[in-house]
Amino acid sequence: ITMKVLVATEKPFAKAAVDGIREIVQGAGYQMALLEKYTDTNQLLTAVQDADALIVRSDKVTAEVVAAAPQLKIVVRAGAGYDNVDLGACTSRGIVVMNTPGQNSNAVAELAIGMMIFMARNQFTPGTGTEIRGKRLGIQAYGHVGRLVGRYGKAMGMEVSAYDPYADPSVFEEDGVRVMDTVEALYEQSDYLSLHIPATEQTKASIGYSLLTRMPQGATLVNTARKEVIDEAGLVKALEERTDLKYITDIAAGNQTALTEKFGKRVFATSKKMGAETAEANINAGLAAARQVVGYLKDGDTKFQVNK
Ligand code: 3PG
Repeated sequence: ITMKVLVATEKPFAKAAVDGIREIVQGAGYQMALLEKYTDTNQLLTAVQDADALIVRSDKVTAEVVAAAPQLKIVVRAGAGYDNVDLGACTSRGIVVMNTPGQNSNAVAELAIGMMIFMARNQFTPGTGTEIRGKRLGIQAYGHVGRLVGRYGKAMGMEVSAYDPYADPSVFEEDGVRVMDTVEALYEQSDYLSLHIPATEQTKASIGYSLLTRMPQGATLVNTARKEVIDEAGLVKALEERTDLKYITDIAAGNQTALTEKFGKRVFATSKKMGAETAEANINAGLAAARQVVGYLKDGDTKFQVNK
């Protein structure tokens, strides 16, 4: 019997990406099943019953989902952040988990730059804008997205600094980016602070009052990473005390309506996470995921495995 690859996307890929994934999966001799826009976890639990491989986006691959999939061998998160996958549940069953690093990062980096301009222009309010050229851009975490934001920021005439204790120091030199020794120093010297950290037990709620109030007069925090990394109470307190600070996020916080009512044009949130919502990003990440599934099932290729 042929193996089955399930593509489960509550937020569907662009059609061109789905077509490309199907071509790769079927071309390798596997069956493909598609579950899009599901509204109930039960739909996913049913769909994974006979799946050998699973491709997802931000879809939650919980222990319950893993338990409902007795034949599952590999999960590929088409994207960067895999905080939606229960790694422990997968590892204990010997299921390989991968992400597709770098594949959708340009979309997110372009959005981060766009968000800076949007806030510099006071949410496109005529007669009230400033420019990003000449301003100091701080990048927290210099991975695939952070590095692109750094390069684009430089091209826009910004002074770029970064903080990332895990990055290879040679990349900063290559890009001509100043390295900060502490995260506090980065916040102190950033007119725009762009967040590119993953959501982990260490980073959750790590950005709050004490970092935000270190920022210079008129500074803007740009969050295209994860809402979970923000300490919301701390954010609100900082915005209340410092009426010059601004916050823009791709991932609406729980109380976003209240935030907008309270702080007006100083805050903005997208209505749905859209950083990687471009045709190009869907195609790049979706096709990479399909190739990685085939590479693992056919040749045992574990490049990009995150639960080694
Ligand atoms: C990622 O981690 O790759 C991005 O947050 C994209 O997430 P999405 O697949 O839900 O758009």
